[in-house]
Amino acid sequence: MPIIGRMKNRRLGKTGFEVSEIGYGAWGIGGTMWIGASDKESLAAVNRAIELGVNFIDTALVYGNGHSEELVGRVVGESTRKVRVATKVPPKNRLWPAPPGVGIEEAFPRDYIVRSAEESLKNLRLDVIDLLQLHVWNPEWTSREEWRRAFEDLKTQGKVVSFGVSINNHQPDSALGIIDTGLIDTVQVIYNIFDQSPERNLFPACIRRNIGVLARVPLDEGALAGRIHEDTVFPEGDFRNFYFRGDRKKQVVERVGALVRDLGLEDASHLPAIAIRFCLSHPAVSTVIPGMRSIGSVEGNAMASGQGPLPASALEILRRHAWDRDFYK
Ligand SMILES: NC(=O)c1ccc[n+]([C@@H]2O[C@H](COP(=O)([O-])OP(=O)(O)OC[C@H]3O[C@@H](n4cnc5c(N)ncnc54)[C@H](OP(=O)(O)O)[C@@H]3O)[C@@H](O)[C@H]2O)c1
Repeated sequence: MPIIGRMKNRRLGKTGFEVSEIGYGAWGIGGTMWIGASDKESLAAVNRAIELGVNFIDTALVYGNGHSEELVGRVVGESTRKVRVATKVPPKNRLWPAPPGVGIEEAFPRDYIVRSAEESLKNLRLDVIDLLQLHVWNPEWTSREEWRRAFEDLKTQGKVVSFGVSINNHQPDSALGIIDTGLIDTVQVIYNIFDQSPERNLFPACIRRNIGVLARVPLDEGALAGRIHEDTVFPEGDFRNFYFRGDRKKQVVERVGALVRDLGLEDASHLPAIAIRFCLSHPAVSTVIPGMRSIGSVEGNAMASGQGPLPASALEILRRHAWDRDFYK
């Protein structure tokens, strides 16, 4: 297979981990908010990703209430290759995103963080978590003891190697304070052709402080995969019914159409690879973590690795396609 062995690695900030520049986003395989993939298909997709050089998987305790972690644990346990696993502690109050004014004692009490990590370890059938992230972040919590002491406890007990936060949707600057504490290793942030806002302040701070960056939702939940049409129907119970509700599919079709035209593409078939290469073109990004429940998506995305940054002329076009909106609301 010509594409095997092409995957490039990058250093994940001060963790020192050499992670594949394309990681695996394991939200979709949890099977609750994304409906459609069978476990058999999901396992095949994760296995294929590892075969193609992916060595970093991002999951979360909340994805399918532990189901995503269980599937990831199964694949990683059976793999002969070293695969780094990142997971997340859900806020105790189950509020996404973290609302202003709500105290850390409601979201991340110290003992709760520790218990949540222990539950993830069980689901993953691992002795140690490579990267534990808080699944939301509120800058009002920066000076609080809860997260600092929980991280210390987990590190001392040898249960977690490194720590990060997954930043609230479209609020990249909300992590600048915690980055400055020097106490986290990574951030996870929405970064794609439509939301380029992390470039302003977050990425320079990450480069300055050697913080690893996980670029999440690189395909805008499928919009930048060119997969959304005005008549697209999602399965009942799938979160995309909310994300792409009302006239949003129409808006997406117009935006993606303009993108395809400006880039001089015949159709949207090359868009996923371009969207992923857009993320990889920024030097602050350590790994891009597309969701890919199908082998076809895995193979398409793996091919985007190792091609270097997009040409300046293409990046200049893409700059004009930033789109300031929040479909998670
Ligand atoms: N708050 C948080 O911390 C948070 C929130 C959201 C996401 N995340 C993380 O970020 C990851 C990525 O985000 P996401 O999964 O929500 O969205 P995404 O990566 O932007 O998009 C996923 C969608 O794109 C499709 N796709 C992927 N590669 C493709 C290709 N080459 N060609 C055509 N279609 C392709 C997938 O299809 P198939 O699945 O059908 O193959 C799926 O429908 C998540 O899995 C999760 O790990 C974290």
